[in-house]
Amino acid sequence: MEKNKLNILIVFYSMTGNVAKLAKAVAEGAMSVKDTEVRIRQVEELIPKEKWNDIMKKVKEELKDIPIASMGDLEWADGIAFGTPTRYGNMTAQMKEYIDETGGLWQKGALENKVAGIFTSTSTQHGGQETTIITSMVPLFHLGMIVVGIPYSEQRLFAFDSISGGSPYGASSISGPKADRSPTSNELEIAKTLGRRIAEVSRKISGK
Ligand SMILES: Cc1cc2nc3c(=O)[nH]c(=O)nc-3n(C[C@H](O)[C@H](O)[C@H](O)COP(=O)(O)O)c2cc1C
Repeated sequence: MEKNKLNILIVFYSMTGNVAKLAKAVAEGAMSVKDTEVRIRQVEELIPKEKWNDIMKKVKEELKDIPIASMGDLEWADGIAFGTPTRYGNMTAQMKEYIDETGGLWQKGALENKVAGIFTSTSTQHGGQETTIITSMVPLFHLGMIVVGIPYSEQRLFAFDSISGGSPYGASSISGPKADRSPTSNELEIAKTLGRRIAEVSRKISGK
């Protein structure tokens, strides 16, 4: 392994593609930090194939080359960005299942002092982005992770002349009632900022 190389994991679930687009932006932000290696992974689907609708089938096809996240990916990483769509103001069952697999890592303290940040997508502006991000932080504290958000030095958080996701708690997008409003450039830039911040803080904490 290259000395001083920083390892950043972007792990996400996405059913209709919006969180996947944010994941790529978060990855871009992390990669902009010198000597950083980024892994993008998706968590396992729990919805049986026979229940997938056409949009879901299309998105699954688009994402098929992204490997399924393992526990080893978490151990490998110095910093981790978790991306999940909002489900009734919380993370998805798919992401929760992945986090619930970390019992063994928790016992060894393997994730202690790793840096983490969260990103999400909702269909509506006030549909629970902040609750999803904040409640997603709770298990990460149990795991001993150092959770970061996005400070207001990211001026795009002040956007008031257009509808935009993004908050001090993390990156986000508003996808609309049909989930077909792709993340805007403001939302993608904020996602990049989250990725960059996770990498920069990981660099300091890990001492790499
Ligand atoms: C079961 C279910 C619950 C949802 N709950 C919320 C919610 O609480 N608030 C909201 O605004 N959107 C909610 N949504 C919409 C998704 O969070 C939204 O479409 C998101 O952009 C999907 O991300 P994706 O395209 O990455 O799958 C829900 C969708 C489903 C299927």
